[in-house]
Amino acid sequence: MFESLPESKPDAILALMERFRGDTRAHKVDLGVGIYKDANGNTPVLAAVKQAEKLLLESQDTKAYVGPIGSRPFCDAMINQVFGANAKTDRIRAAQSTGGTGALRILADLIKSTRPDAAIWVSDPTWPNHVPILNAAGIEMKHYPYYDAQKCEVSFDAMMSALKSATDGDIVLLHGCCHNPTGADLLLDQWQQVADLCESKSLFPFFDMAYQGFGDGLDEDAASIRLFADKLPELVVAASCSKNLGLYRERTGAALLLAADTAQADRALGQLSVVIRSNYSMPPDHGANTTNLVMTTDSLNKQWREELEGMRSRMVRQRSAFAEAMRKRTNSDKFDYIAHQKGMFSRLPLSTSQIESLRDVNGIYLVGDGRINVAGLPEENMDALADAIASVL
Ligand SMILES: Cc1ncc(COP(=O)(O)O)c(C=O)c1O
Repeated sequence: MFESLPESKPDAILALMERFRGDTRAHKVDLGVGIYKDANGNTPVLAAVKQAEKLLLESQDTKAYVGPIGSRPFCDAMINQVFGANAKTDRIRAAQSTGGTGALRILADLIKSTRPDAAIWVSDPTWPNHVPILNAAGIEMKHYPYYDAQKCEVSFDAMMSALKSATDGDIVLLHGCCHNPTGADLLLDQWQQVADLCESKSLFPFFDMAYQGFGDGLDEDAASIRLFADKLPELVVAASCSKNLGLYRERTGAALLLAADTAQADRALGQLSVVIRSNYSMPPDHGANTTNLVMTTDSLNKQWREELEGMRSRMVRQRSAFAEAMRKRTNSDKFDYIAHQKGMFSRLPLSTSQIESLRDVNGIYLVGDGRINVAGLPEENMDALADAIASVL
């Protein structure tokens, strides 16, 4: 059975993490990891989450199945978070998913089943896992240019002209906020132009929302999706609770959809439920139940928002401190873009040999495309880091 299977390619980021773990240098710095780190390099369970877990432990009286679309209160809380407290929800439906990844996959399966010939347009670059997930769903993939690596900003004109060449009815995958890996987000006016294009060409927006609350704030980060929802008849969103609630391993997220009318919304959710049934039958409960408690218990909700704001504002400070340190070393504003970008990632304009040199000589680990996790920037050692980066430029 297995003799003809090829070796699987090691995941570049996991391999880097492995190498980092084996590095015995005390001053080593991990900028490659894809999760939030606090000032001590830890990813602790949020206090609001811990509290909700205690409540859950005391109150839960059954482990009976939750059903394919999961917890209704959790789904309602996610609709509220993504579309806003005042959103008209009659055309919106949601299903609990196994993290943002699970949502991406079930939504991709749903789309393939209803529009089998459509291609999906994905930003270049994008989160590397988008490619295997969408390939596994059998959707043809095309790329739109997204990032100008020289100018370190969105190449909006190139993006728009690529999307103008899309076939009517194609799908467009958009990072709702905090673009991974570049940290370069569209401005509201640019979102408006993309929404206009989607409307005129009947392009179907597929949002990946993995970092809501890490950019400018929970509501601010959802402005893109809400703008589209006001204008367009249909869209889907793959939302993750991994980062903003720190629930990574609990695999918690939601697949949300906006349909043209309530009957279509119900049918779409019904078909999504069929997709789920044939994949993993039903989602795990713990993370979603915990999230629901956090979002719907006033005191926990307040505590969570404060903790989320703490993570967000720390990343903003880290960005500014790094940009400032690089400004001093380069006597230029070349790295100022880091301070203006959003979320957990940005890219440094470094070559492969510069990245290797930082790793081998200085014990600074970053992904091969120059992506850094700004949460991992060493608060106390920013000067030493900036010196090392300046030395390879
Ligand atoms: C852009 C993007 N989408 C989706 C995900 C998936 O998140 P989850 O861990 O919830 O599956 C990630 C995780 O890193 C991500 O960066």
